[in-house]
Amino acid sequence: MALLYAVLLQVLSWSGLCLFLRLLATGLAGVLGVWTVRLLARHAWYTRRLSRFNTPPTHSWLIGHLGQMRSTEEGLQQVDELVQTYKHSCCWFLGPFYHLVRVFHPDYVKPLLMASANITVKDELIYGHLRPWLGQSLLISSGEEWSRKRRLLTPAFHFDILKNYILTFNSSTDTMHNKWHRLVAEGTTNIEMFDQITLMTLDSLLKCAFSYQSNCQESTSEYVSAIVELSDLVIDRRLRILHHWDWIYWKTQQGQRFKRALNVVHRFTRDVVQKRRALIDQQRETEALTNQSAGQQRKKDFVDIILLSKDEDGQGLTDEEIQAEANTFMFAGHDTTASAICWTLYNLARHTHYQEKCRQELMELMEGREGHEIEWDDLSNLPFTTMCIKESLRLHSPVQAVTRNYTQDMTLPGDLTVPKGVICLVSLYGTHHNPEVWTNPHEYDPLRFEPTGTKSRSAHGFIPFSSGPRFAWYVTLGYRRKQPGLFLIYNPLKQTP
Ligand code: HEM
Ligand SMILES: *[C@@H]1O[C@H](CO)[C@@H](O)[C@H](O)[C@H]1NC(C)=O
Ligand SMILES: *[C@@H]1O[C@H](CO)[C@@H](O)[C@H](O)[C@H]1NC(C)=O
Ligand SMILES: *[C@@H]1O[C@H](CO)[C@@H](O)[C@H](O)[C@H]1NC(C)=O
Ligand SMILES: *[C@@H]1O[C@H](CO)[C@@H](O)[C@H](O)[C@H]1NC(C)=O
Repeated sequence: MALLYAVLLQVLSWSGLCLFLRLLATGLAGVLGVWTVRLLARHAWYTRRLSRFNTPPTHSWLIGHLGQMRSTEEGLQQVDELVQTYKHSCCWFLGPFYHLVRVFHPDYVKPLLMASANITVKDELIYGHLRPWLGQSLLISSGEEWSRKRRLLTPAFHFDILKNYILTFNSSTDTMHNKWHRLVAEGTTNIEMFDQITLMTLDSLLKCAFSYQSNCQESTSEYVSAIVELSDLVIDRRLRILHHWDWIYWKTQQGQRFKRALNVVHRFTRDVVQKRRALIDQQRETEALTNQSAGQQRKKDFVDIILLSKDEDGQGLTDEEIQAEANTFMFAGHDTTASAICWTLYNLARHTHYQEKCRQELMELMEGREGHEIEWDDLSNLPFTTMCIKESLRLHSPVQAVTRNYTQDMTLPGDLTVPKGVICLVSLYGTHHNPEVWTNPHEYDPLRFEPTGTKSRSAHGFIPFSSGPRFAWYVTLGYRRKQPGLFLIYNPLKQTP
């Protein structure tokens, strides 16, 4: 005790304090120095390895393209310019911190997206910020972990399951239409479609995923507001380089808001998963006692299916893993579908002759039927409408780009090599607007997707759902997302005189 006191006194005495501070400063400067030297050496190494790629003009060799990345319309125009100038790929760097290769031509996209899943890692720059929200889910995980989750989740996207959802989409769109009618009757002349449709997709996803009737289209829901806020904050964070460091971000006002919304979302999913597991266990017990299946009446939703899913060793997902997947389902499902539906409606509104053709197609399909029920099998009998949706997904892809980080050097055409650790930014938008693939790329022309025209085009020219090993059941999902779109298109049309 006396010794401690003596040391303390020494430290607190003036000269002791000076010495202490000097030591501390030297130490800090040393650490900072080593860090800077390593950062600059790494920067120089990558710059040299990437020198064969075209590099758009930069502010300086150090700052690079930092601050030029935008998530606005200008950001997309910038991609258009890159595509015009560099045709297939170019290199970017965000200060000495991140080195990127941007690709926007099918021949360059293909080797990257088709690479084996075991050498593909989701990069931290784009996906890392989602981790606090989504956890180690399918979207973010890599390698063996990802394959296992994919196998366990596949049953949840089986046709027989998706078929059931069509009723849900119907009721959610119906709610939306009723709301619009009411608003119009009250004298509203302007409706922000994207907000309305986002609520509708959230409403239907909540019913599909958790059998949860949020009623979020009619009254505010804390959970739904939290999801919308988190989606906005993730984008905001990406654009502020200082916020990329966790220890800074969590102290900012945005970080605090993120945490609050996160609490709401995580509490909700945890509750749902725990209650459901208890319910299933209880049902199993009752069944064993009475020797009859009592669980037959309740329709299975997403949570039920992944709770019951087992791998080859009989192992299922833990509660935590299930929560991660449920959060991902909500995140990956709502914004993408809302955007796809809105743009399809926008494009059809601007091209009334195509709209007319879609309506004709639907009218013919519905002829002689009672009511206005559309069924799963009908979806494959609407070829023209499908072409219109595809063209919308091309011109206005809901997902602009996907990024990858490879654990091996990757070879691109023209003997270009992407060193491992570089972020590969595959621009879906750029590929969809590349004049080398599409004539008049900025024009809305559903006829591009006529079955005869599709064959001559490179398979990687149209990739709204990405491609390669991380794509697979997307064909199914693609259909899945059309349904609310169809109801939407169908219903307003039937009300137009
Ligand atoms: C028009 C609608 C949609 C579009 C354009 C779209 C697009 C995409 C794209 C491009 C990816 C690849 C992301 C990457 O590689 O980093 C992806 C992944 C994913 N999406 Fe969607 N998506 C849509 C709807 C949905 C829906 C409705 C759900 C679920 C309810 C969903 C769940 C997922 C999941 C779980 C992944 C991760 C797959 C994996 O990595 O194995 N998406 N989506
Ligand atoms: C990755 O998977 C491929 C087959 O898909 C296999 O040939 C290769 O050996 C695997 N590599 C590693 C590092 O596991
Ligand atoms: C890329 O992957 C490597 C190996 O997994 C990792 O060390 C590195 O931080 C990753 N880089 C980015 C930007 O995600
Ligand atoms: C349960 O029902 C099945 C047929 O549904 C029957 O074969 C079996 O013997 C029954 N078991 C018990 C314990 O009653
Ligand atoms: C869709 O909802 C409307 C209104 O609730 C109903 O009249 C119609 O029968 C429903 N269609 C299906 C396929 O359930």
